[in-house]
Amino acid sequence: MVQEMVFSSQELIDLEDRYGAHNYHPIPVVLSKGEGVHVWDTEGKRYFDFLSAYSAVNQGHCHPRIINALIEQAQKLTLTSRAFYNDVLGRYEQYITEYFGYDRVLPMNTGVEGGETAIKLCRKWGYEVKGIPANQAKIVFVTGNFWGRTLAAISASTDSGSTANFGPYMPGYLLIPYNDLQALEMALKDPTVAGFMVEPIQGEAGVVVPDEGYLRSAYNLCKANNVLFIADEVQTGLARTGKLLCCDHEGFRPDILILGKALSGGVLPVSAVLASDEVMLTIRPGQHGSTYGGNPLACAVAMEALEVIKDEALAENAAYLGKVFRTRMQEDVVDKTNLITLVRGKGLLNAIVIDDEEEGELGWNICLKLAENGLLAKPTHGNIIRFAPPLVMTEGQLHECCDIIARVVRQFD
Ligand SMILES: Cc1ncc(COP(=O)(O)O)c(C=O)c1O
Repeated sequence: MVQEMVFSSQELIDLEDRYGAHNYHPIPVVLSKGEGVHVWDTEGKRYFDFLSAYSAVNQGHCHPRIINALIEQAQKLTLTSRAFYNDVLGRYEQYITEYFGYDRVLPMNTGVEGGETAIKLCRKWGYEVKGIPANQAKIVFVTGNFWGRTLAAISASTDSGSTANFGPYMPGYLLIPYNDLQALEMALKDPTVAGFMVEPIQGEAGVVVPDEGYLRSAYNLCKANNVLFIADEVQTGLARTGKLLCCDHEGFRPDILILGKALSGGVLPVSAVLASDEVMLTIRPGQHGSTYGGNPLACAVAMEALEVIKDEALAENAAYLGKVFRTRMQEDVVDKTNLITLVRGKGLLNAIVIDDEEEGELGWNICLKLAENGLLAKPTHGNIIRFAPPLVMTEGQLHECCDIIARVVRQFD
């Protein structure tokens, strides 16, 4: 075991700076403990977490039931690989497919692997069921999408920060504007299109909410053109937007559903792709997989994480608190400052937009000040601050947080 030593926050930051790749630019707080909606830094200062590890910690930090499931399973069996059966995977597969109403699940680890799996499944279905000629299948994406950092994912990206000098990129993608049904209708006329992959709300792009009815109409267009609707609910799913899935707001079931992040309550990487027999059974033994995908530890944790979402009515809480949050932000921040132009979101996935044409340092500086005042958030695209606290928050705590945000933002006005 590495020898225990006491480090100051600054020393720990310096270590990351010296020995780690410089692929992140964190807010300078060093966290060492989490419980529910709170995290603590190494000096013992307590913060409200308003990022929830990019919506992975919907159930709150170190949820005791999820941690118990982790410990109990970890003491029995953690990994077998899929070379053998294990005594948890089948139960998990039955549990999660019944929970979301799908025929089958393909278990993976990270969200981006879920996206990759969905695209592979969609292509396979395109060739073997739809009858697209070999190697011609296309997937339609929308501008502003984000689904991770692998080459397949960045090949769909319109953000130069994600793509520059990582080419060549994956072929077979079509890009259309988000929230544009006409563009989708045009794109789907191409008979080699196998799928349309979309985030119901674009999280990384800055919590961009499409028009009401867009998703449902997009789904109908896909149906009319024999194209699979792939919902990337890695960030929007699992109660975050006030329903179990964000697509539930518009009352339809995607053909392929990708889940990740909160599927483990922030305990370990667990993702899943759900689909019908027709789609899922196009992949046969040896054609796709992952050493850790479907491991018993992940399965036990995911079942408990999903159970907690229902037992604690997290979707209902997110729906209610989301309305409170947006009302408070509108009244105390948007209406009372010249700095914040907009608050938008659904459930507890929200953002405020700062009037900062240069997308400069303002968002960053506000987040530094919020941290000083005991609330952690991070800007996205410079001038947008996403607010996504754990869904176990109480109304009293939320008001306390709104007070902090309003007070800090007004100091910058
Ligand atoms: C919508 C969406 N899809 C996929 C991913 C990728 O997930 P992961 O970072 O676990 O690979 C993310 C991550 O932020 C995401 O927001």
